[in-house]
Formats: sequence, C-alpha cells, structure tokens
Amino acid sequence: MKNHYARMKEVLKRYWLVACRESELRRKPVGVTVLDEPVVLFRTERGIHALRDVCPHRRVPLSKGWVKGDAIVCPYHGWEFDGEGACRRVPGLVDDACKERIRATALPVRVRDGFVWIQLQGETDGTGETEGKEKGEVADGFKEPVDLSFLRDPSLYSFVWKVKVKGNLVNAFENLLDGTHTHYVHAGLIRTDAYRQKVSAKLTAHRDHVEIEYSGESKQAGLISQLLERDRQTSYGRFFMPGIAQIEYRSSKGLSMLITAVARPVSEFVQDVYAIITVKRGIVPNFIKRLVISPFFKRALKQDLRIVELQQEWIERHGEGRLVSTEADLMRPFIEQLTRGRYYDKPLERKVQLLL
Ligand code: FES
Ligand SMILES: [Fe+2]
Repeated sequence: MKNHYARMKEVLKRYWLVACRESELRRKPVGVTVLDEPVVLFRTERGIHALRDVCPHRRVPLSKGWVKGDAIVCPYHGWEFDGEGACRRVPGLVDDACKERIRATALPVRVRDGFVWIQLQGETDGTGETEGKEKGEVADGFKEPVDLSFLRDPSLYSFVWKVKVKGNLVNAFENLLDGTHTHYVHAGLIRTDAYRQKVSAKLTAHRDHVEIEYSGESKQAGLISQLLERDRQTSYGRFFMPGIAQIEYRSSKGLSMLITAVARPVSEFVQDVYAIITVKRGIVPNFIKRLVISPFFKRALKQDLRIVELQQEWIERHGEGRLVSTEADLMRPFIEQLTRGRYYDKPLERKVQLLL
C-alpha cells in the first residue's frame, strides 16, 4: 500500500491550492513550497503569475530574482521569463533567437477572495489504491477554488493570521475539528473537564467535504465562549478538500463566529495555515473586536501548535503505527478517505452522542 502522503499528493494536486494571500504579493517575487514543489509567484501589469521556482538554465530559484516589465529576471545570468514561462531574453548572446525553445514551467493561477490559488496538476502514475471510488474522473469538482465568498460579504468582518503547523495534514485538521481535546489542551479557555454537556453530533459526508452539526450544547464553559458568544444554538465543524477547515457558531440571531483554516500544504510534516476569524459587523468598531478577540485565539492556537508538534515529533521518531479510535473520533476517518481520493456517491450520515 502506498503511503498516505504519496497518495494524498496525487489527489491534492488535482485541486486548486492556496499559494499565498494577494496582499502578501507586492513588487518582489514570492517563493513558496506547495506539496514539496517550489513555486514562484510574481505580479506584473498583466496580473499574477506562477512558475516553478527554478531557472531551467542552471537551477537557481527565480524567486531570488526580480520583476522587469512583464517578466521575471533570473538573478544568475539574467534570463527573463514571462508569466506563461516563455523565455524573453538571454542577455549573453548577440543573437538570442535560441530563446524560442527555452521555457520555464508555468502553473495555472486564479485570484479569488483575496487568495492566490494555483494548480500543480500532478500526473498520476496509475498505481493508486483501488478500494472505494477514485476521484480522478470527477473533473467538475476541481474546476474552481473552494468557495470562500464569506470574505466578500459586506455584513461580515474577517481578519487573518498565518501560522506554521508542524504536523501532517490529517493530524493538523483532526486537531482543529476535534472537540474532545478542548477540555485538556484548552482547559478553561474553550471547555473544561469539570463541566460537560451531552451533545448530539450529526456527521454528513459529501463528495468534497464533511460536516458535523452539533446540537444541544449551550455556551461552552470556557472563557472564549463566555466572552464572545450569545446563546449558542448550533455549531458546525467542516472539512473541505483540499485542506480547509471551518468551525461555525450560531445563536438564535444567526452567525456568532466563523473560524476558517486554509492550509498551504508545504510538505509531509509542515502546513502553512491561514487562520481567518469572521464576525458580524455591528456597533462595536472592527479594530476593537479584533483587539479583544485576538489574544484568546492566539493563545488557543499556540496550545494546539504545541500538542500537534509533540505528536509529530513522536511519530517521526517512532512511526505512527496503528491508531486506536472510538466513536468520538468522528471526523478523522473522513479526512483520511477524502485525502486518499475516495468519496461517497450519496451523502453518508452518522449520529453520535458526545459529552462535550
Ligand atoms: S541560472 Fe538562471 S540565467 Fe543562468
Ligand atoms: Fe484545539
């Protein structure tokens, strides 16, 4: 059996993946790594472009170069490449007509909801696992980046941080979407073991995402909930391919808060995550909201990063082996399935009672 990461890479490469935020890309080119692939992003008058971050001449990263007109200049011998990867100039030659046959590798780019998305378009080698349905044929689902249109909703206010998670994608997203660690890792901040409530969880697995609806929980005992939430009615945990997690809290008045994590999968053990906090706009100025909310979330995030890193260090040293799970570990099997390229034709439902 092919290891999970090798398989996941093939699957994820068929999707639009986040490369960076639009605001992170100014005049200078930006180099990022996505699923172990070096990618350079740069901005010209013609828009935002992505190339494989390597000069075909002598393998120097183009991201260390600069933009000139509508091309990127390699910092070694000055070869210039446009956004489609065509070579525009080989400065050392009197007649550089040979440039017609030289190319850098261009990648498809979409700019949407403030993010720059790319497609790595990996070729599958045909040795994928055979169980379950394979996603390769379902081209439609890969046409557009995941919908983050809430970022354009004028009634909502969002702010974003970027964090580096040292953990594999499945462990990182399981952590984000799992309620049962919150009493321990975030004791007092999110929940507490001394105060638990019986909660109904209903999971629905779709083609490209999984959602769990939690009902029956009033406000959580932790500080964050007490301070920032009205009465809670329902909350949701969602995982979308190719690496987006979302937690939504709703009161009788509608949305209380939305927490969205968008991953740029860097390598097997590292994910860059854009954490987006979204609240409704209201009388309180946005910057005050941000000032009040930020310290709590940064604290919670730090606690999560630490536990996932501890887990990752252990796994790297001793191997993951076989994990023991219970009914309470609702989300994980579905994240594993989806990232392996398997899905359910009809939505699948599962219900469980939890003490949260
Ligand atoms: S290595 Fe890029 S121009 Fe020579
Ligand atoms: Fe957590």
